[in-house]
Amino acid sequence: MPMKYSRASAPAKVILFGEHFVVNGSRAIATALDLPTVATAIEKASWPLEIESTSLGLRCVTGPELTCSSRELEPLLSIIRALRSRDYDVPPARLTVESDIPPSAGLGSSASASAAAAAALTALAGQDIDPEELFEVTMEGERVAHGNPSGVDPATVVYGGTIVFRRGQGVLERLQGGLSVPLVVADSGLRRSTAAPVLNVLKFLDRVGPLRVSLLGLVEQLIDLAWSAIRGNQLEDIGALMNINHGLLSAIGVSTPELEELVYAARRAGALGAKLTGAGWGGSIIAITRPGEAERVAAALTSRSSWVRVLDGGAPGTRVIKVNP
Ligand code: MEV
Repeated sequence: MPMKYSRASAPAKVILFGEHFVVNGSRAIATALDLPTVATAIEKASWPLEIESTSLGLRCVTGPELTCSSRELEPLLSIIRALRSRDYDVPPARLTVESDIPPSAGLGSSASASAAAAAALTALAGQDIDPEELFEVTMEGERVAHGNPSGVDPATVVYGGTIVFRRGQGVLERLQGGLSVPLVVADSGLRRSTAAPVLNVLKFLDRVGPLRVSLLGLVEQLIDLAWSAIRGNQLEDIGALMNINHGLLSAIGVSTPELEELVYAARRAGALGAKLTGAGWGGSIIAITRPGEAERVAAALTSRSSWVRVLDGGAPGTRVIKVNP
């Protein structure tokens, strides 16, 4: 009899507005990127469970105690524990996670891997998992991956589309699609952990006393304006607000000279706006352009980045693609 298998996909994400500030209480706007992680779970007759991440180039074989020597695979183990603690039956399987999302680059690779894996494993067991529970389970992976997550990454990859998110409240508003133009995304190639800049910003905001409230309030205003510009397809306004957001991220200390160079190169090439995206201290930038100009702006970044893509936002969320038989 052929072995049963299931396959699920989850998008990447970019934060359009509000990263870091969202950890500290204000809202963020994020969109799901058309750059999927695909997880395949193949039933096995018995233990051990095998996990492989092709993008990380890592593999782990574990018994029911669920231990791996590589820390990078720990989020996947923690989602299996989270599923079990919620009474999902996770049978022994061979789980393969494949993705072209560069890891630790601010594009949600860990949340995307966790969400796709959880969806594939539950589908293999013939169980439905609703998006709320998939979000909670993916959050468990994110807690392991970076300590103090706001939840914006798991929410974006689970629900898809373009969302306004607040920590503790979840998705406040959602558009099915994305912006009317694709985004230019460029990876600086500098790898960083999310936990370190998040902790640094926490301390920074404590240090600046009453300015903390002003900065978070400013971001709230920015989010209101940005959401209305996105809904109204006002590309120039979106660009201007992205530039302001980048300035705030520089001010709180998460930019780097390499990210600044990419941001300024995008603007010089005609982008309406450009900012770092995600945790910073490395990782990626995004730029928004007039219709038809994304490829030209992308080309201007290739001398500074070996990974530049023009990608549509507003991709669908996590989905089971196939269960066989
Ligand atoms: C990471 O993609 C975004 C941060 O705001 C952290 C978080 O929200 O969990 C830096």
